[in-house]
Amino acid sequence: MNKRPIILGIETSCDETAVSIIQDNESGIPKILSNIVSSQFDIHKEFGGVVPELAARSHVEKINLIAKKALDESGITLDKVSAVAVTSGPGLIICLSVGLNFAKSLASSLKVPFIGVNHLEGHALSPRLQTNINYPYLLLLISGGHSQFLSVNGLGSYTRLGTTIDDALGEAFDKTAKLLGIEFPGGPKLEKFAEKGDPNKFKLPKPIINKGGCNLSFAGLKTAILRIMKNINSEQAKYDLAASFQKTIEEILYFKSKIAFKEFSKNKVLEEKNFIVAGGVAANNGIRKKLIQVSNENNFKSIFPDFELCGDNAAMIALVGLEKFKQNKFNNLDLSASPRLPLDSSAKFLKGPGIKL
Ligand code: KG4
Ligand code: ZN
Repeated sequence: MNKRPIILGIETSCDETAVSIIQDNESGIPKILSNIVSSQFDIHKEFGGVVPELAARSHVEKINLIAKKALDESGITLDKVSAVAVTSGPGLIICLSVGLNFAKSLASSLKVPFIGVNHLEGHALSPRLQTNINYPYLLLLISGGHSQFLSVNGLGSYTRLGTTIDDALGEAFDKTAKLLGIEFPGGPKLEKFAEKGDPNKFKLPKPIINKGGCNLSFAGLKTAILRIMKNINSEQAKYDLAASFQKTIEEILYFKSKIAFKEFSKNKVLEEKNFIVAGGVAANNGIRKKLIQVSNENNFKSIFPDFELCGDNAAMIALVGLEKFKQNKFNNLDLSASPRLPLDSSAKFLKGPGIKL
């Protein structure tokens, strides 16, 4: 048995094949021995979005190689691995199944524990790969599939304070980028594109800004962009529209974070109030700046994962695996993939027409 557990983490929930090896550390911040992420942008580019069958096929083709690369880079041998952790949901079911099957075979051949991990919990805990943060903390999770404010009370313990009632923020970025003619994956490129524009040129809607607490809504922006696009033809107008979109998102998040701060702080006496922003969209510089500002104004300390840990990766999956390993929270090999896997299972489903906020 290793003195300090070593966890091999696997992530295949969408279009990234990722394997990471981390080791527990006395500082409380695990050491990332390797963190390999292989993206499939080139495969999906011509379709303008992720095609599940192609994504799954690519995971099958690459997972062995990526695992080998992660092992080589970590400098450890398989017999030193204490447990195998893998994303079991949420995500594309055929993609999740590739990682799950690989992890099950590996864990059973090594005779080590097998641990299923909620992808969202990976994002939620990801800053703990870099810094010690005490529970509870406020989390804004902004990714391609989710946008939520949550109170992170501890491992496996979450209270949802707000969620998007339609599109996720990453999805809003991706769809807007597509409408503006930015090549897939457009979300991460939009901000750079917007730098050439005037953010005050177009007034875009801020859906449910004055109702629904810290719930969020972004679908109205996409509709507005679509409408405006029909009436513009210059490249400069597109830059202006991108800049206006970026600014509107920053303002929505600024406003809704203030509400989330209040809700999170209710009935709590905390020595320090931490605000973690995680998920792919947390890589957006303008959003980071605005959220640092609102945190400073409200006595919250804002913490963002490093850029390479914002997007999907397996180090965050290994991290949750490590925390579960320490608490002997293992899974049986019959664990199946879950396309939906909320962090707060008691929270109301808030999507679709007729939602009452
Ligand atoms: O967390 P993530 O890698 O995957 C999911 O779990 O969904 O997030 C991916 C999302 C995509 O929608 C992508 O467009 C968005 O994050 N994203 C960004 C930026 N970088 C990634 N959105 C805005 N600005 C960025 N810099
Ligand atoms: Zn993700």
